[in-house]
Amino acid sequence: MSYKKITPSELDENIFDMISKDWFLMTAQKNEIVNPMTVAWATMGILWQKPVVIAAVRPERYTHEIASQSDTFSLTVFDKSYRKMLGFCGTKSGRDYDKVKECGLHVLHEGETPYFEEARLAFICKKLCVFQLKEEDFLGNKEFTGKWYGGENSANGEGGGYHHLYIAEITDILVKEE
Ligand SMILES: Cc1cc2nc3c(=O)[nH]c(=O)nc-3n(C[C@H](O)[C@H](O)[C@H](O)COP(=O)(O)O)c2cc1C
Repeated sequence: MSYKKITPSELDENIFDMISKDWFLMTAQKNEIVNPMTVAWATMGILWQKPVVIAAVRPERYTHEIASQSDTFSLTVFDKSYRKMLGFCGTKSGRDYDKVKECGLHVLHEGETPYFEEARLAFICKKLCVFQLKEEDFLGNKEFTGKWYGGENSANGEGGGYHHLYIAEITDILVKEE
């Protein structure tokens, strides 16, 4: 199994489809704990002249607990045969399950950052800044905040705590070579 590094300019993907249809596994590590969670609210682009990703993580996620204590995380992309695994990692918490073990994933590392042998693509991300959205940031749009925040988090993503936006530099992009 080998991966080749490509530059952001060489990325041959529709980023909108990748995020909204393929989804990401966002994975951070703290000591021996490697915890993946499914993420579909994210953006990619340029900030401070760097290629960056912004991942939106609700405060109640175990992933937030782990990622807030690590300098880096990965976003990995899988082919369609891993849909069930992404469903599991998007509905079960690492507080209750060892999701890596339950899903039969195999952890690789780029430096300190975990990613998965099963992924077709991995973005290695170094945190630049993290901040939590607040109700007043939404410019009085109560309809919007009322829909997406407060109350219980539901299966379609509504409800729950105000997201932490993890803005991170994409330091490496790894593409699996068949
Ligand atoms: C398709 C899909 C996309 C999701 N996107 C996000 C997201 O962008 N941000 C987020 O905080 N939770 C998102 N979730 C919910 C988390 O993946 C889910 O709550 C997970 O169980 C959290 O795991 P953890 O507690 O181990 O971090 C998504 C779930 C699914 C199924």
